[in-house]
Amino acid sequence: MCGIVGVTGSKRVLAILTSGMARLEYRGYDSAGIACTEIESGGHQGAASLLWRKRTCVGTNSVARLTAELGDKELGDGNCCQLAGIGHVRWATHGRPDIDNAHPHFDCNSEIAVVHNGIVENYESIKSQLVDEGHKFTSETDSEVIAHLLESFSSSTKEPIKALKALLDVLEGTFAIAVLFKHLPSDIYVVRRVSPLIVGLHNGIGLVASDIPAILGETRQVYSLSDNEIAIVRPDSISIVGEDGEVSDPIFRDIQWSLEEAEKGGFDDFMSKEIAEQPASVADTLRGRITEDGTILLDQENLSKDQLREIDKIFIVACGSSFHAGLVAKYAIEHWARVPVEVDISSEFRYRDPILNSRTLVVGVSQSGETIDTFQALKEARLQGAKVLVITNVVDSSMTRECDAVLYTRAGPELGVAATKTHVAQMAALYLLAIHIAQSKNVLYPEESLEIVNHLRQVPDLMAKTISLQSNIADLVHRLSNQTTGDAQPTGNRCRRFFYLGRNVGYPVALEGALKLKEISYLAAEGYPAGELKHGPIALIEPGVIVVAIATRNRLWSKMLANIEEVKARGATVVIVAGEGDEESIAKADEVILVPRVPHPLLAPMIDVIALQLFAYHFALVMGNDVDRPRNLAKTVTVE
Ligand code: F6R
Repeated sequence: MCGIVGVTGSKRVLAILTSGMARLEYRGYDSAGIACTEIESGGHQGAASLLWRKRTCVGTNSVARLTAELGDKELGDGNCCQLAGIGHVRWATHGRPDIDNAHPHFDCNSEIAVVHNGIVENYESIKSQLVDEGHKFTSETDSEVIAHLLESFSSSTKEPIKALKALLDVLEGTFAIAVLFKHLPSDIYVVRRVSPLIVGLHNGIGLVASDIPAILGETRQVYSLSDNEIAIVRPDSISIVGEDGEVSDPIFRDIQWSLEEAEKGGFDDFMSKEIAEQPASVADTLRGRITEDGTILLDQENLSKDQLREIDKIFIVACGSSFHAGLVAKYAIEHWARVPVEVDISSEFRYRDPILNSRTLVVGVSQSGETIDTFQALKEARLQGAKVLVITNVVDSSMTRECDAVLYTRAGPELGVAATKTHVAQMAALYLLAIHIAQSKNVLYPEESLEIVNHLRQVPDLMAKTISLQSNIADLVHRLSNQTTGDAQPTGNRCRRFFYLGRNVGYPVALEGALKLKEISYLAAEGYPAGELKHGPIALIEPGVIVVAIATRNRLWSKMLANIEEVKARGATVVIVAGEGDEESIAKADEVILVPRVPHPLLAPMIDVIALQLFAYHFALVMGNDVDRPRNLAKTVTVE
């Protein structure tokens, strides 16, 4: 979720680093930093090499500030003496955004500089061992252990490849890492597992980046490292060391993308990129928080079992999509943990005089951690003595400073205004919380909770499968858009009315599906609990109305089918979201959106919502709307 750039062999090391980092700011913008090697002034034979770093932490201006602090002369005139450099833009995951936590990180002797993307899952145990051995840490990050491990591994051999191989054996988690060693001033060493990393070579300049846009101005020939490969990047050569120790030359591929296309990773817009990133957002949010035997570990988040055992009432407060994630959690927490849950719109909760005490847990869910309605609601809850937990995607955001505990989602920066990957990551965090409370209170048998956890672990793959079915949804949207329905549709889609219906956990999914359609397609859509329709809104059902029915199997599925019959009988076009192979549901539909079957019905929202995001997305495209910047909306709402 951060960005890495590296360069060696150019007289413009600083300029290439800072312009590459500026292009990666969409990956992270909490802080920025570079480390460079130089030869002592004069550069005479036998001159010693130097390794220095510079870091800034001023939010979205971090790269600009860093560039200014480096000075025009050094950046521009081509007379610099830097041999190689690595740069990083940070999106905080472990450790708040501040200078000490900004990359690059150094070892104890400032002879090794490291930048890192990803999460080192076992950093705590590594760190305590290194501290016992006498290593001095200066940050709260997981990343710093990498510099100290390399120091420890290379102290005897001074051979970077051996040290990096030992590093690969020890580190758990995901990572893309670039390293500078002071005693090898022209070399950059890189290694990756899961997190992407590319290398390139052009006109005697070696290049490294986590993302193509960072180096697209310098080269269009890149090689993507495979998992556990190491690359040695020098000014005139790149060597790849495979997992088996074999050394080979990289086979470069040609990048045809424009810069704008590259920033979007080849997607047409940030929204579709972020929809595609959802399996990773959920996997990263779960990572390191579930043990082999299915125990949820949230002690680090200040949510120990002892603290949770006392809780007898939960309020979830949130706005918009975060509110819908909270509604899903109500079903999961009440079913698994048997604790009563109320879900409130933040702006209502705050002013409605809720009854709270020290046994109440108030959970604020907010992607940004800044939404004023939720922020004020949480402050109020704390004043009244409740325990406050914040679930947010932004480290050190305002809400995290006004609470007792924080559970971070790890979706990375979301640029599309409509929430997608942060919404599913919130659900994943809330499912973890639900199981954790159940385990704390001993409400579930161990084998029951292990089964749920195993189902949860399967979700990212099922999400990926749902996304791969996208072309069917695009075709469906085109069919619906071309449908003629007489008087009810005098001017095309713009006048159509949509109802989204669901029951049980399908209900919040219906609300979220309708919200997405409203936000980016500007179409009138209402989400409703399907059983409630007959108490009024059914009067609006007539030919031309599109009803999107969430009919994946949950405990009220057969009742859902009966509600579908009611709207069909009144002439609505019914689009059913159904599990693959569910012929009974499919038989009721005018149109079907098939999704993979989910092993546990309470987990279905994470899959079903993707289908509805894609449905809204393709309608927005048909309507010619800007999906990333919908009219009238702001990404973070800091006014009441
Ligand atoms: C919907 C959307 C908004 C936000 C809401 C809360 O796509 O993005 O409804 O969910 O404004 O924002 P956070 O989660 O930042 O508190």
